[in-house]
Amino acid sequence: MAKFIPEPYRIKMVEPIKMTTREHREAAIKEADYNLFRLKGEDVYVDTLTDSGTNAMSDAQWSALMMGDEAYAGAKSYFKLVEAAQDIFGYGYIQPVHQGRAAEKVLFPSFLEKGKYAIANLFFDTTRAHVELAGARCLEACNPEASDSSLRAPFKGNMDVARMEEIIREKGPENIGLVVMTITNNSAGGQPVSLQNMREVAALCQKYHIHLNIDAARYAENAMFVKMREPECKDMSIKEIIRAFFDLADTFTMSAKKDTIVNMGGLIGVKDENAPYILKIKANCISFEGFYTYGGLNGRDLEALAVGLYEGLDENWLRYRIGTMEYFGERLDEYGIPYQSPAGGHGIFLDAAKFYPQLPYYEFPGQVLAIELYKECGLRACDIGSYMIGNDPDTGKQLKSINEFTRLAIPRRVYTQSHYDMVIEAINEVWKRRESIRRGYKITWEPPILRHFQASLTPIEE
Ligand code: F0G
Repeated sequence: MAKFIPEPYRIKMVEPIKMTTREHREAAIKEADYNLFRLKGEDVYVDTLTDSGTNAMSDAQWSALMMGDEAYAGAKSYFKLVEAAQDIFGYGYIQPVHQGRAAEKVLFPSFLEKGKYAIANLFFDTTRAHVELAGARCLEACNPEASDSSLRAPFKGNMDVARMEEIIREKGPENIGLVVMTITNNSAGGQPVSLQNMREVAALCQKYHIHLNIDAARYAENAMFVKMREPECKDMSIKEIIRAFFDLADTFTMSAKKDTIVNMGGLIGVKDENAPYILKIKANCISFEGFYTYGGLNGRDLEALAVGLYEGLDENWLRYRIGTMEYFGERLDEYGIPYQSPAGGHGIFLDAAKFYPQLPYYEFPGQVLAIELYKECGLRACDIGSYMIGNDPDTGKQLKSINEFTRLAIPRRVYTQSHYDMVIEAINEVWKRRESIRRGYKITWEPPILRHFQASLTPIEE
């Protein structure tokens, strides 16, 4: 019997959510052109569209908001945030920005331009977009274990180091502008990266003189997995593990809307405080985000972020967080439902290709399953598969994703075990009638970049 680890917090404020009927949901999703991003939030019962910015802040964070110094330049809140981030990551320069993609937009042009490549253990959608917007192209070298959802391996998020070196040799080291290590590896199912793998990637970057950036959205969950699964790290604190990772990179870009448990924020970190490109970071920040001591955030956001940085490292919290995903996974195992296993750090990635082997990737099985789940119980999830990946920027052809996932990304400190149990039962209902689905969806309109957020879809008639 799966065990649920009890929450290391109690509830002080509640937010009512609307119960809807199946009829209502069928009309709502049609009205949204079968794009879950275009649903009204109030038509959703349990919202697992993303774990980004959807977190519940603590009493300490809410009270820190009142200390926000809203000075345009040099605010006290800025220095408090910089001090906290330097203490945790040990980097010389810290730049706040409004969210993760802003960090990418501000930093990447220092290393990428037309003719250059970036290599990652997998890019998440906006990261891919910012590599391409800088004029460069994305190449990926993900651990092949990640493409077999039933294979239980401890570090499916790792970089395939041999493949990475092959790419470097093929394209020429001088043409690789950047290596991005995404921890945890979101597109692979929130799967962790080992410290050993990070060391190997860093050694290759050193050998070929390539800049190494950590995409640090879920660095704390990654550290907890490393503590639990990598024997040499079992007696290290979360902070020590984080330091060991960040010491190996040159920079990090971070969406602080995830593991630092706030609703808005991001960071850039540069290890070497004398790095020449810090001037470009500041200049880009001033142009795109705002003066470099607030980076598009309110003083109060900087305060909440400074507190959240520490709360996110709490071991009891992380044990509960990872434990929730394990519970979810074990309940799915009891029903024989396929998902990226073992469960990732921030959510459950149902293997939609195994729900619907009758559907080709270009009918978007991950999107089909997300729509079925919404109709079934008002759950909002999203496709992490071919629908999300979109088209090749050069040929315009639909790309085929290595996995067709439907992701349930779990907001932090928001839902309770009974929400998860309700969702698990609904997933099982949809699983039981999986063979009744004959066709998927086609896109009737799409924008050129990041199409999945806005596109219109329609069911393909049999
Ligand atoms: N990198 C990773 C690994 C991410 O997962 C995200 C966002 C970003 C960068 C960009 O950060 O949203 O603050 O601009 N992921 C969210 C998600 C949106 O749903 O997984 P952002």
